[in-house]
Amino acid sequence: MCKIETEISRVTRSKVEAKASYNMMSKWYDMLAGFAEKKCRNTGLKKLSAKEGEIVLDIGFGTGHSILALAQSVGNSGKVYGIDISEGMCKIAQSNVRKAELSDRVELKCGDAAKPHFEANFFDAVFMSFTLELFDTPEIPIVLHECQRVLRNGGRICIVAISKKGKANLMMRLYEWIHAKLPKYVDCRPIFVRESLEDAGFQIVEVAKMSMVRLPVEIVVAQHVLPE
Ligand SMILES: C[S@@+](CC[C@H](N)C(=O)[O-])C[C@H]1O[C@@H](n2cnc3c(N)ncnc32)[C@H](O)[C@@H]1O
Repeated sequence: MCKIETEISRVTRSKVEAKASYNMMSKWYDMLAGFAEKKCRNTGLKKLSAKEGEIVLDIGFGTGHSILALAQSVGNSGKVYGIDISEGMCKIAQSNVRKAELSDRVELKCGDAAKPHFEANFFDAVFMSFTLELFDTPEIPIVLHECQRVLRNGGRICIVAISKKGKANLMMRLYEWIHAKLPKYVDCRPIFVRESLEDAGFQIVEVAKMSMVRLPVEIVVAQHVLPE
């Protein structure tokens, strides 16, 4: 086993439990976490830099903030697809898309992003904020290979996630302790974002470091480039 597999905590809750807890949280999610996550998520969106006419996938879209921002960026000649495991999140995001009058360029699916849902070579870009760290360790490469499969050659990915890189501060140790004690409710844990993308075969374009409530966050942009 390599460092990225041995040093990160496992996610022990089931997918059924994940669905149930995100369904329960969906109505309160923006109040609980939305504000804290906003700055890092928006930085990731800026770095992904979706363009007019592009086809973009958002994995684990939550209440749909990035879906709305991506839909504005791709304009009416582009399209944004999203997948989220929680029906509660799907309903709220769908309603936000309708209110923003962007339904014509957005398509949301409810399902597990570790399973294939989309056509191969279809997307120009993939975005994932605070979601890759919710997959159990053996599933991270599966999800990233799925991202590669659906991206066209040269397509980009941006991952925003809590980072395990560097020395753990007090907040990080506390967070990991809560994750160990309450795995059903605090299901995310810090991961090695850059290394996970490199191991999956992506070419790293840019790495930025930020923090969210004193937890380190990595924002990594990478490219899917097929060998010649
Ligand atoms: C921490 S929230 C982040 C939401 C959003 N990306 C944001 O930045 O506001 C994680 C989201 O991932 C979804 N999720 C969890 N496991 C998933 C899976 N296996 N497949 C798809 N979505 C998943 C949850 O339902 C939740 O909406």
